[in-house]
Amino acid sequence: MTERKVICAVEDVPADHPLLVEIDGLPSLAVYQLSDGVYVTDAICTHGEAPLTDGWLENDEIECPFHGGRFCVRTGKPTAFPVTVPLRTYPARVESGSIVIEIKEE
Ligand code: FES
Repeated sequence: MTERKVICAVEDVPADHPLLVEIDGLPSLAVYQLSDGVYVTDAICTHGEAPLTDGWLENDEIECPFHGGRFCVRTGKPTAFPVTVPLRTYPARVESGSIVIEIKEE
C-alpha cells in the first residue's frame, strides 16, 4: 500500500542546502531542491546517527557531517566511504506549491 503525504512548501527548501522535515509517524526527512526537481530521503545517515541536513549538498550528493560519507540524493546509493548501506528515498513531486511524497509500507 502507498500513502501520499504533503511534507512542506516547495518555497521552504533552499537550493543549496537540505531542509529537515519532522512529521509525526514518519522518520526524519531531508528535502533537496535540485535543478531538475525535488528529492526526499531519510535525514539520518545509515552509517551512524548523523543528521544529513547538517551536511553539505554538492550537485546531487549529500556529504555526511560525521565521517564524510556521501549519498546520491536521487537514488540513495552510497557514493563515498564509509557509507555502504543505501539511504531510503521517497518519490516526490510538487503539487500546487507543496511537496508531496509517496510512502510505500515495507
Ligand atoms: S555517520 Fe555518516 S558517514 Fe559516519
